[in-house]
Amino acid sequence: MINATGQPQSVLVLGGSSEIAQAIVNRLVEGRCRTVVLAGRPSERLEAAVVSARAAGADTVETVAFDVDATSGHQAWMDDVFARFGNLDLVLVAAGVLGNQESDEQDAEATAAVLTTNFTGPAAALIAAGGCLRRQGHGRIVVLSSVAGERARKANFIYGSSKAGLDAFAQGLSDSLVGSGVGVTIVRPGFVVGRMTEGMDPAPFSTTPDEVATEVVKGITSGAHVVHAPSVLRWVFAVMRHLPRPIWRRMPG
Ligand SMILES: NC(=O)c1ccc[n+]([C@@H]2O[C@H](COP(=O)([O-])OP(=O)(O)OC[C@H]3O[C@@H](n4cnc5c(N)ncnc54)[C@H](OP(=O)(O)O)[C@@H]3O)[C@@H](O)[C@H]2O)c1
Repeated sequence: MINATGQPQSVLVLGGSSEIAQAIVNRLVEGRCRTVVLAGRPSERLEAAVVSARAAGADTVETVAFDVDATSGHQAWMDDVFARFGNLDLVLVAAGVLGNQESDEQDAEATAAVLTTNFTGPAAALIAAGGCLRRQGHGRIVVLSSVAGERARKANFIYGSSKAGLDAFAQGLSDSLVGSGVGVTIVRPGFVVGRMTEGMDPAPFSTTPDEVATEVVKGITSGAHVVHAPSVLRWVFAVMRHLPRPIWRRMPG
């Protein structure tokens, strides 16, 4: 159960090897979280995430095979996980890919693959998780969206639109869960220096997985609907959204 200070005792991570998720999990474990279920494609990175959560102090750390691209079976998979682990206080949706805009925009299959991993798959998993949490009567869903979804940029519109779709979906899910005891927190990080952005020049207001984790844990504890990381991006994008299109079009990559 999420305790009186808003801290979850158990978490299911979809995309268990994510660097940002790992930072969030470690922060949650330092708080009250004791059970960590890391769902992902079997890999050394997933195993490293297990070691990291155990080192942070979690009592139970398990992995479950999960491919967000699966075109069916998300509900049965989620039902199995909830049946196996019982109460899950938090579902963190972290799976995602950046893609390569330059080559992907020449390749319809590659474009569809990014949209599947970042939108279609997570949306199906979110519906399944929402159903399980609704039946449970309590819990929180945290969705790693992105400021890239606030307004699609020419240099990054495939990823940006996939996150815009996911973000809108999570907003609607959140509204549909009002009164069920289940809350949704949508996280919109800016450029996070780490594995996903390796080799890229950091954008203005760039941040780190640890700093994102700090904002996310604050958001979980306060029951925030939307969290920006860093928080100043809320105001930056409130302006960016309204820039005239001829100016926006010239935004650098
Ligand atoms: N890094 C940034 O600048 C940034 C900014 C804003 C938002 N975000 C979002 O934050 C989330 C986490 O990103 P990160 O920075 O932590 O990057 P990351 O370390 O590369 O994590 C991405 C995660 O997605 C998983 N994934 C990819 N395809 C999958 C599939 N088909 N099935 C299951 N899992 C799959 C990866 O698993 P594998 O290890 O199996 O590949 C990995 O766990 C993503 O949704 C990303 O879009 C990141």
